[in-house]
Amino acid sequence: MASIKIGILGNNHVGAHVANAILYQGLATDIYMSDRDAVLCRAQVNDLLDAMSFYPVTARVHEVDDRYEELAQCDIIVNAAGHVKEAAVSRDGELFVTTDEVKTFAKRIVDAGFKGIWVSISNPNDVIALAIQRLTDYDPLKVIGSGTTLDSSRFQHALATKTGFDPQCISSLMLGEHGFAEFALWSHVSFGGLTPEEVEAQCGYTFDRDDLEQQACHGGYITMAGKCCTEYSISNGATKIIKAIVHDTKVITPVSTLIHNVYGVDNIYQSLPCMIGQNGVEKVFVPTMTESEIAKWQASAAHIQGNIDQVGWIKALQ
Ligand SMILES: NC(=O)c1ccc[n+]([C@@H]2O[C@H](COP(=O)([O-])OP(=O)(O)OC[C@H]3O[C@@H](n4cnc5c(N)ncnc54)[C@H](O)[C@@H]3O)[C@@H](O)[C@H]2O)c1
Repeated sequence: MASIKIGILGNNHVGAHVANAILYQGLATDIYMSDRDAVLCRAQVNDLLDAMSFYPVTARVHEVDDRYEELAQCDIIVNAAGHVKEAAVSRDGELFVTTDEVKTFAKRIVDAGFKGIWVSISNPNDVIALAIQRLTDYDPLKVIGSGTTLDSSRFQHALATKTGFDPQCISSLMLGEHGFAEFALWSHVSFGGLTPEEVEAQCGYTFDRDDLEQQACHGGYITMAGKCCTEYSISNGATKIIKAIVHDTKVITPVSTLIHNVYGVDNIYQSLPCMIGQNGVEKVFVPTMTESEIAKWQASAAHIQGNIDQVGWIKALQ
């Protein structure tokens, strides 16, 4: 295996679980753990190294603490730096914290020579991805927000619970903001190739479309209510994106990307289905939306723009 170096910024719930998921899938030769809390960083590195004999492929795990320049050698950097307690009610609660944090590391890493791909998880996800891209003037196709990859899996979960079908045969997208302004792309839901209307007619029930959309949208807050974080679902969602980059799989999944004139939305990050490969986002797809989906797409963008407008320096860079 060629050397694959992955940096992880922010090593608490999400960052540590991403590291574990990467190692379980044998996706890296080297993991660089970076957290401004050096005691936590050391603990996570030690725990991962203690687990090394159980992973399929042995990797090196390095403690970087806040020496961010050391991350410049990585092929991929995952941003999970945050303060999740501020997101207890809404992801917007972290807006001023995570945008400040990005300023501490993004430019330092790029100025030190980073040429790889950013996969940013921190919330509010779309604003942070834009902030990284604008602060560093980086190729936007190489700054990926994890976006609604996770939310689309939550939508699958809701639909699988309703139907009893294997979630893996359900194709269902949440698009727009990674947050309460996201929406379900009901026009493209498929159950093993069947439309929702065909399933309704042949199974004898009706989908409560609004309720299922809300279950996908608010599902994370069931988890948050019980353990003040989410970690398994997001770490596996982010690792799907990382795997697509490492193995150049060309998977199509919704991620937050820079939008250029799509149904009246321009120059912000939000989620559309994208093809991901070794170069990052290799193609952005625009689904044919219904009128009501277009209205939700635009409302989602307006919500993200409202957040951007509150952070003067991002607004100025936009
Ligand atoms: N996109 C998604 O779907 C999704 C899902 C879950 C969580 N999240 C987000 O991921 C982020 C991390 O979640 P968590 O539960 O691990 O949060 P957390 O608050 O438990 O941990 C964040 C870690 O980041 C570190 N950190 C903060 N600023 C830093 C900096 N400048 N440099 C280095 N380290 C820094 C902190 O020391 C802490 O260890 C949060 O923003 C959270 O909202 C996103």
